[in-house]
Amino acid sequence: MIKGRIVGTGSTTPKRILTNQDLATIVDTTDEWIMRRTGIKERRISSEGQSENTSDLATKASLRALEMAGISAEDLDLIVIGTVTPDRQFPSVACFVQKALKASKAVAFDVSAGCSGFLYAMSVADNAIATGNCQNALVVGAERLSSVTNWEDRSTCVLLGDGAGAVILTANAVNDGILSTHLQSDGSFWNLLYSTDGTAKIPEILNTIEGKPFYLKMEGNRLFRKAVECLSDIAGKVLEHHNLSSADITLMVPHQANLRIIKAVAERLSIPMDRVYTNIQKYGNTSSATIPIALDEANREGMLKPGDFVLLVTFGAGLTWGASIVKWSF
Ligand code: ACO
Repeated sequence: MIKGRIVGTGSTTPKRILTNQDLATIVDTTDEWIMRRTGIKERRISSEGQSENTSDLATKASLRALEMAGISAEDLDLIVIGTVTPDRQFPSVACFVQKALKASKAVAFDVSAGCSGFLYAMSVADNAIATGNCQNALVVGAERLSSVTNWEDRSTCVLLGDGAGAVILTANAVNDGILSTHLQSDGSFWNLLYSTDGTAKIPEILNTIEGKPFYLKMEGNRLFRKAVECLSDIAGKVLEHHNLSSADITLMVPHQANLRIIKAVAERLSIPMDRVYTNIQKYGNTSSATIPIALDEANREGMLKPGDFVLLVTFGAGLTWGASIVKWSF
């Protein structure tokens, strides 16, 4: 059985930091409320003219992952990018990244699955590897949520941020790597989290609040409950599938939407918080990018070693959700 094995990770976030105190100057909120209800202290926001579009962030994260993997971009067969904030409606972010990396051999396309985009993209790449059609794949989660944020809506603008994370997968005949990914969707709850119609206008948020053509809308309370339920359920299913218990998991890397959601899921799964990676404090919710950024940071901080079981678990607009068990191998 051929599996995808992670051999490199990379991530990047924009330079500009937007703190809770900064937000309190543009909407009716406080650092205390945001910290207590979400765990977020600050987030990174792309600046115009700084080459921080979604494809720029994706390219930077990809270069770091390629460097760690010791693989040349010319050896990539596949580039799959999870995003809900592409530079343009078309072509795909993946095609811009392919051009920037000079990955001339790679097939490149995006996957739209809300915040679950990275796990969906990784599953697509892993399946391509399993069929023998692909040797080396680049999988990215990249977002510029600031481009679809309503900076007058305090219930959503405090949550969101920009960034990108990437992994390199290579074909592997040994029994490690991505053991399996379980995905689910339920379109009947689409209206808990969606974007309004239209095209995005790049906001220079601290100076002006532009028109309102294209914004993220969310029913936070109901989404919170669905998130806890779906994340716990799918994580339980993937553990059961591999006959693993929560005690076998070295690190859970969950989607970073709200620290209270993460804590509730960890408690349901009986995974202590010292085995749960969180960086929501620094970046907020970067949608598809949260898991690969967190995975890269955990990896570079030396928290993972060969043989460790890592549980990735995600939830987002669609609704979509999923979980993956990775047996770490480098
Ligand atoms: N500052 C101060 N007060 C606020 C703010 C704010 N930023 N936002 C909302 N409030 C107020 C509300 O107006 C409300 O006031 P009221 O009681 O006078 O009516 C009060 O705080 C409570 O509001 P709730 O919405 O009930 O607060 P809650 O504890 O549910 O927290 C939150 C809101 C943080 C949005 C939470 O519901 C949440 O995290 N939901 C899930 C988000 C999520 O999982 N998203 C999934 C993926 S996101 C993506 O895909 C991009």
